[in-house]
Amino acid sequence: MMDRIDPDAVIMPEIYGQFAEHLGACIYGGLWVGPDSPIPNTQGYRNDVLQALRDLKVPVMRWPGGCFADEYHWRDGIGPVKDRPTQVNNNWGGTVEDNSFGTHEFFNLCELLGCEPYLSGNVGSGSVEELAQWVEYITAADGPMARLRKENGREKPWKLKYLGVGNESWGCGGNFTPEYYSDVYRRYQTYCRDFSGNKLYKIASGASDYDYDWTDIVMKKAHSHMDGISLHYYTVTGWSGSKGSATKFTPDDYYWTLGKCLEIEPVIEKHDSIMDKYDAKKRVGLLVDEWGTWWDVEPGTNPGHLYQQNTMRDAMVAALSLNVFQRHTDRVRMTNIAQVANVLQSMVLTRGDSMVLTPTYYVFKMYIPHQGATPVPVSVKTSRMDVRDGRSVDMLQATASRKDGKITLSLTNVGLDNDIDVEIPLGNSAKVKDMTGSIITAGSVNDYNDFGQPEKVTLKPFKGAKASKGNITLKLPAKSIVTLTFEI
Ligand code: AHR
Repeated sequence: MMDRIDPDAVIMPEIYGQFAEHLGACIYGGLWVGPDSPIPNTQGYRNDVLQALRDLKVPVMRWPGGCFADEYHWRDGIGPVKDRPTQVNNNWGGTVEDNSFGTHEFFNLCELLGCEPYLSGNVGSGSVEELAQWVEYITAADGPMARLRKENGREKPWKLKYLGVGNESWGCGGNFTPEYYSDVYRRYQTYCRDFSGNKLYKIASGASDYDYDWTDIVMKKAHSHMDGISLHYYTVTGWSGSKGSATKFTPDDYYWTLGKCLEIEPVIEKHDSIMDKYDAKKRVGLLVDEWGTWWDVEPGTNPGHLYQQNTMRDAMVAALSLNVFQRHTDRVRMTNIAQVANVLQSMVLTRGDSMVLTPTYYVFKMYIPHQGATPVPVSVKTSRMDVRDGRSVDMLQATASRKDGKITLSLTNVGLDNDIDVEIPLGNSAKVKDMTGSIITAGSVNDYNDFGQPEKVTLKPFKGAKASKGNITLKLPAKSIVTLTFEI
């Protein structure tokens, strides 16, 4: 059943953000093949991935890390490619990269996609001057950094809104204490200036998971100097030992995954309530700038490259997580699923000149109508299942929004075995018009798309919903996600 709407609330399109790190084949091979590649490309960006991401209406892309960001020195990635130094990627498999994808390549990609760039700045191993000059290089119309940019072929400054000051500064980003990081954050952000009409939205490096102290201390010491603070939450079994196969899992593992995924909601609520102590008006955004599933890498691939398959289970995690974010629009202003290509819970997988769209991709596609819409709170009456580790999962999950006179309602039946008869009361006088629907489901929740079988789990039209006066009814198949769009 749909509840009262707050007309001022908005699901920031940035909730549907992506993340691209110099890690494995995310950038090199995934997004970028270089202009001389035999793989069809536009200025070096592979055409198939470019089109897939355009179709997804990607609102924002975070780059260059992740852990990589705090070892990235932007000057290594500008100027003629043949003169750029190589670099060992110490975080991710010791791979040597040639820096052929740098600032210009990233900002031009964002222009091609029509998305906001989100820059993750080096605090761990960089300097204040280095970060300040990077911002100047990108955004200033005049001055020494603008001159350098122009010499490198870009006359006009780019726009840069989202600036992250460090990444996981409690860990790979420098092993800071929250007290020390707060002071460093305050110092760094001071020198990241607004040039030539550009306005930065400054993001402090936030906590992971259940580290509430980090949020408390950084908010207390630095909240007035930030626009946002990040949060990382992965659906992962643990940080040591095996994380489990991406494709071979039992029903018990599946339900555990959903319980762990949904735990992001109380985690967000707790960080939010801590933020409220210093920012009751919710001026500062909570940006979940890394989230998603983290499984063992596919057998035979480099363990440092985090290449994993993506099944119908991952699609469920995507839908349930997006539902949670849409319930917390008063604080959650952006999220970035990790990562866009070939790493963790990807949108696309590539091999040579082939590309596969993952089940997660199709959820993001299905949810596009929610971007920028007004959330419509929904209350759901359904059965609940207890799952491993003391968590529980509602069998029917839902989210709804309204935009341009249309309601979009996304429903998920997480159960593996039983269809659910759903009844949606809309109020006696409501007359449903122009209803369309789409569905993602699979024969088995372990199903995935792969090279040679690219369309096993995909988006299909759904015609099973019936509208009568004041009501919509449907049979929601087991392990399916359905989105209905209609006018009332
Ligand atoms: O997304 C992979 C890694 O996970 C990122 O580099 C890091 O920030 C996080 O620990």
